[in-house]
Amino acid sequence: MKRNQKLLVLLVALVMALGVVSLVSAQGVSGDLELFSWWTGSGEAAGKDALIVEFKALNPGVNVIDSAIAGGSGVIAKAVLTTRMLGGDPPDAFQVHAGAELNSLWVKAGRVEPLNDLYEANGWMEQYPEGLLSLISDEAGNIYSVPVNIHRSNVVWYVPSKLEEWGVTLPASWDEFVTTTCPALQAKDVVPISLGPTWTQSHLWESVVLGELGVDGYNGLWNGQTNWAGEEALAAWDTYGQVLACANEDMNALGDWQPASQMVIDGTAAFNVMGDWAAGYFIADLSLEPNVDFAWAPSPGTEGVFMMLSDTFALPKGAPHPEAARAWLNFVGSAAAQDIFNPLKGSLPANTTADIGNAELYNAYFQSAYEDWTTNTIVGSQRHGAVAPAAFDSGFLNIISQFQSDRDAISAAANAGALAIQTGIGG
Ligand code: GAL
Repeated sequence: MKRNQKLLVLLVALVMALGVVSLVSAQGVSGDLELFSWWTGSGEAAGKDALIVEFKALNPGVNVIDSAIAGGSGVIAKAVLTTRMLGGDPPDAFQVHAGAELNSLWVKAGRVEPLNDLYEANGWMEQYPEGLLSLISDEAGNIYSVPVNIHRSNVVWYVPSKLEEWGVTLPASWDEFVTTTCPALQAKDVVPISLGPTWTQSHLWESVVLGELGVDGYNGLWNGQTNWAGEEALAAWDTYGQVLACANEDMNALGDWQPASQMVIDGTAAFNVMGDWAAGYFIADLSLEPNVDFAWAPSPGTEGVFMMLSDTFALPKGAPHPEAARAWLNFVGSAAAQDIFNPLKGSLPANTTADIGNAELYNAYFQSAYEDWTTNTIVGSQRHGAVAPAAFDSGFLNIISQFQSDRDAISAAANAGALAIQTGIGG
């Protein structure tokens, strides 16, 4: 190539590069963006970190402040968020679950901005499932957050070669687990089911109760059709107590959910019931191979049922940098962002135009979760904000914690029933 030609090529490249830069900065967003979530540490942060890297590349003028607060299922972050929101010190965008967690508190209190303009501008009304949109909308049709994923709560994790070695199979029901699987594993000095601190116990509780009461019975707890203190609910507490008796006694001493899931991978425990962020942990953090190094199934008795939850981001009223927050929401709602985030997070994209059919991006775990998501009966997770308000959740954690120490099913059922009335559940 002659010198002049080379110069020309260089110039064209430069002009093109400048064009790209000016396109990006034409979005004109600059300044700080404080993001609030509970995604920090292994098994939680990889997806969010990748999102932030891409967002910064697209918005070089924005300074992202990642204010994540550790503590699985947001047990600590949500308290800090409430203090800040009520104290007039909101972040720019915050993580919140679709459903009651968003609606019964932040929407009800008028503390979040409607985002319909973003939905309209991006064609998202057609790109998000109707059922999910209804979980983040009020009756007037205002939409209050942007979902980044669909997670599944009722999953049991195990290592196939280990089950074979111990001579046990996946139990089809909790009854089979407590009467057959659990004693067989205990006889081999293997922890039958691993558990962590209180919130992970309440996570297990909802799967046990779904397995025991079935879809209608479980839904009835939240819509007033199931008697919290009735015989069936009581029996479910009883079963849950028997399952707890098959778990590691030091559950409350474990730092969070990861050490409990890790016990399965390490071969010290046979099963762990945890949401599919565990898949994110196994795949992205531990580089494990699905169906080889770990496997999964719907928790016992919940075949054909997908207990869902969705992580979303909302824009607080009075956010210091609403423009940057909108740029973030605009980005995370896109199919492109969700294809960055979800393969690392262990969740399905919420935006239906994302590339879920791409098996390179979304491995065997995601393909099986997607199959279930699109064919199963869907119910909402209590633990992760879909069906019960925040007020119920904090009281319920105390009941779960009390039950862990006294195993008194009658008190637990009665207290949960009273709490449901007090927090307006089912009525
Ligand atoms: C859930 C959240 C997940 C994951 C999990 C463990 O509430 O929706 O994304 O972070 O907690 O912390």
